[in-house]
Amino acid sequence: MVGQQFIAQLAGHPWFRITWLGASQRSEGHKYRDLTWRLPTPMPEEVADLTVEQAAPGRAPRLVFSALDANVAGEIEQAFAEAGHIVVSNARNFRMDPFVPLLIPEVNPDHLSLVPAQQQAKGWSGAIVTNPNCSTVFLAMALAALRQLNPTAVSVTTLQAASGAGYPGVASLDLLGNVIPYISGEEEKIESETKKILGSLQNGHVEPHPVIISAHTTRVAVVNGHTEMIGVRFENMPSREDLLNAFTSFWGRPQQHHLPTAPAKPIIYMDEANRPQPRLDVERERGMAVFVGRLRPCPVLGYKFVALGHNTIRGAAGAAVLNAELMSAEGMLD
Ligand SMILES: NC(=O)c1ccc[n+]([C@@H]2O[C@H](COP(=O)([O-])OP(=O)(O)OC[C@H]3O[C@@H](n4cnc5c(N)ncnc54)[C@H](OP(=O)(O)O)[C@@H]3O)[C@@H](O)[C@H]2O)c1
Repeated sequence: MVGQQFIAQLAGHPWFRITWLGASQRSEGHKYRDLTWRLPTPMPEEVADLTVEQAAPGRAPRLVFSALDANVAGEIEQAFAEAGHIVVSNARNFRMDPFVPLLIPEVNPDHLSLVPAQQQAKGWSGAIVTNPNCSTVFLAMALAALRQLNPTAVSVTTLQAASGAGYPGVASLDLLGNVIPYISGEEEKIESETKKILGSLQNGHVEPHPVIISAHTTRVAVVNGHTEMIGVRFENMPSREDLLNAFTSFWGRPQQHHLPTAPAKPIIYMDEANRPQPRLDVERERGMAVFVGRLRPCPVLGYKFVALGHNTIRGAAGAAVLNAELMSAEGMLD
């Protein structure tokens, strides 16, 4: 799911060109055009004649994007980093490593300064930079916009799309007409990754943000787009206007650099009472914005709202491409 989104995001990219593909033994040795393409847009011609190779360093270019299954990503990504490759990864394996940036370019671009310490500590000539779990990205971006208002506690319930489980994912007979109230490991990832992303750099390490986060995750019969119901308590109760201004004025380094994959506005606030919705909104802004709506008082926490993002684009492949664009714009890929 994510690998094909990478190809869609990188096809025709102004800075990067796909010259190599690696995957499992199932795909190894096949021309890409002979494998099953599952996106609704046509397979880009520039990859069709590439032959898929073993996912190992050697013939791969210096910059590699990883959408590897987490069962194998740890060992394979480390082998690439040791061999001098810059690995921009989606997998969870290195996200919480204290030397590895868990990056959202609008939120914590300064965490990229962990890279030289990573290379020194691990003895790698290459490096690993990660993007968060898909549902973490949307929560962390919304909270980053509100960071100046001092959020102290957050409750989030997710309604996560089927494509978030990879291919073939959850069996259709389990998912259709149903809600599955459990996604293995997901709640822990949201709670810990968000605190690292919002954390501050202190003496070369990331001090996690003190906000308390409670997550409940569910899988629903939606194809693309994770919806999140978010409640937030603040140190001092801000006005609704303060929150609205924080969402609509939020922007960062990608917008400043005009990075090719950056949305013009990372957060789009929708005024309609029944939006955002995955089917109507998730493909807007090329899947790179977070859509927020239904901001209103919450009698328990203070405020509550809905956020929506495209899990395989802003939550995965698009996030990683944006990470690489930021690294390139800041001279880290020279
Ligand atoms: N789906 C999402 O929304 C999402 C969002 C954020 C992060 N992620 C993370 O991104 C990664 C990919 O997720 P996905 O949803 O794209 O999963 P997926 O559809 O199951 O794809 C997994 C990929 O890993 C490759 N692979 C599996 N075993 C391998 C091996 N032994 N050696 C080399 N390659 C191997 C597969 O190769 P073949 O193509 O040959 O089978 C496939 O390309 C996971 O770590 C996931 O947690 C996913």
